[in-house]
Amino acid sequence: RNYKRQMICRRDIDSLNVPFLSIYQSLIPPEEEKVKQKQLLSLLEKLVIKEWPKARLYLYGSCANSFGVSKSDVDVCLAIEEAHMDKSKIIMKLADILQSDNLQDVQALTHARVPIVKLMDPVTGISCDICINNLLAVVNTKLLWDYSRIDARLRQLAFIIKHWAKSRKVNETYHGTLSSYAYVLMCINFLQQRRPAILPCLQEMNTTYSVTVDDVDCAFFDQVEKLNDFGHCNKETIGQLVWGFFYYWAYCHDYTNTVVSVRTGSIISKREKDWTRRIGNDRHLICIEDPFEISHDLGRVVDKHSIKVLREEFERAANIMQFDPNPCVTLFEPY
Ligand code: GTP
Ligand code: MG
Repeated sequence: RNYKRQMICRRDIDSLNVPFLSIYQSLIPPEEEKVKQKQLLSLLEKLVIKEWPKARLYLYGSCANSFGVSKSDVDVCLAIEEAHMDKSKIIMKLADILQSDNLQDVQALTHARVPIVKLMDPVTGISCDICINNLLAVVNTKLLWDYSRIDARLRQLAFIIKHWAKSRKVNETYHGTLSSYAYVLMCINFLQQRRPAILPCLQEMNTTYSVTVDDVDCAFFDQVEKLNDFGHCNKETIGQLVWGFFYYWAYCHDYTNTVVSVRTGSIISKREKDWTRRIGNDRHLICIEDPFEISHDLGRVVDKHSIKVLREEFERAANIMQFDPNPCVTLFEPY
């Protein structure tokens, strides 16, 4: 692989900016979709509060972190203090409440890794998953959203990478590839690593936002409107960044020894986290540290087979970015 490290970016790379940006634009959800999501959330709130007056609903995931493409499902978290009820009882009860209103396809999935209620709202056509007390996801959603407001290139890059991952079928955790959440963290870390940096490390700055959730202290700098010109010294364009991202994951990342860490804004060693060997089902073949649950490797779903698939896809993408006459088409060809 070493000779490829010498490769330099193709000369016409900037001619890809316009087509990449138009793909990005075409994926952004229209304003009316946001309005419909809000409508659905208020309907759900109305129904839930009748049963549990102190409960609250939060949007999380791609409908709230700014990395959602058009027509994504809506992720909702029900925050509720019902010490005497376990999650699956709450899920059943919630499904009951929602069923009785005119929502469609209400299903209680009590045995899933994360128990949820699934439903479809016939008025807006939106599908929605509701989980219980997953407040860490609500906080990491805020962190991603705050990062997205610092430099426009993060959202552009993440949309392109997510679109690529979905087209190439490497965004399927149940098949051993990575979640959307993991890809966005990889994009954030990649932009933290550029020189000059395009993104700062919000968790290493002074704390302006802090909550404790499930005994985890979540603290970071969230006054990001003050960081508007953070990345201005770096003039890299979206074409160069997409190329750089794939090139990094194809030929530069040290899979054996390192962990991608948004929390520290750097690449850290597996040894310091004791992620050097397989423990239970955690193989740590590609390591992406959760910014708050730091014992949690988002690459844990990746196995001996899927790591090969992933790395081949990174190499395919890097080679297309380097040599293909029409990368904006070839990159996203369905697998
Ligand atoms: P799409 O639905 O594919 O557009 O993306 P998404 O951003 O909704 O991502 P995903 O379905 O992967 O996850 C939804 C949300 O759940 C994420 O934004 C995170 O907030 C949270 N989440 C997902 N996986 C994990 C995980 O392993 N750990 C934690 N703490 N949160 C997670
Ligand atoms: Mg989602």
